[in-house]
Amino acid sequence: MTIFATKETHVFRVLFEGQVFYLRSLHKASPEKDFLMSETELRVSKIKDGTVIDHITSGHALDVVKILGITGKEETPITIAINVSSKRLKRKDIVKIEGRELKPQEVHKIALIAPHASINIVRDYKVVKKDEVKLPSVIDNIIKCANPVCISNSNEPVKAKFYVGSEEPLLLKCHYCGYIVEKKDVLQQF
Ligand code: CTP
Ligand code: ZN
Repeated sequence: MTIFATKETHVFRVLFEGQVFYLRSLHKASPEKDFLMSETELRVSKIKDGTVIDHITSGHALDVVKILGITGKEETPITIAINVSSKRLKRKDIVKIEGRELKPQEVHKIALIAPHASINIVRDYKVVKKDEVKLPSVIDNIIKCANPVCISNSNEPVKAKFYVGSEEPLLLKCHYCGYIVEKKDVLQQF
């Protein structure tokens, strides 16, 4: 293995078994301790303070973005990764938001469409809290019943309420009319 310095501090060009790699080092003196980055791979940057929603069921990153009300006009960085490889799931999506922590309501909504997601709170580059999302067995007042004539959709002061029959595929039973709400019905509401 031959290591060459590059113009960028802490980045070394490495020739290893006929292939070129870039080694990004946090410890200038011992770059071997850090990760190897091949020329075809680009790592998404870490965030300083905020939330990383990881292990999102692939194909649902943009739904998570909608749930969080992200419009694209924010001034803080937001990273969205779609269909990246994952050890645990085959493919996953990731959403990283600088400078924001999530409300419990937002986490419950994410759990409805991405039951394996993990919410990582990052402070000063370190993950200080990691939680798997979890659906409560009763969903209160988060989504509406998909049955238009359900009493919870009338002017009556009745709040929507569902029992979770299954997380994957998502099946929620309305407390009032028994209608079975599915993922596609939920996605329409975001
Ligand atoms: N992350 C980030 N910025 C940081 C720290 C972490 O963007 N300053 C991201 C990582 O890239 C990863 C997620 O937050 O997508 C969780 O980080 P970490 O717990 O360090 O990763 P893993 O151990 O791989 O997590 P898990 O076991 O949940 O897969
Ligand atoms: Zn109903």
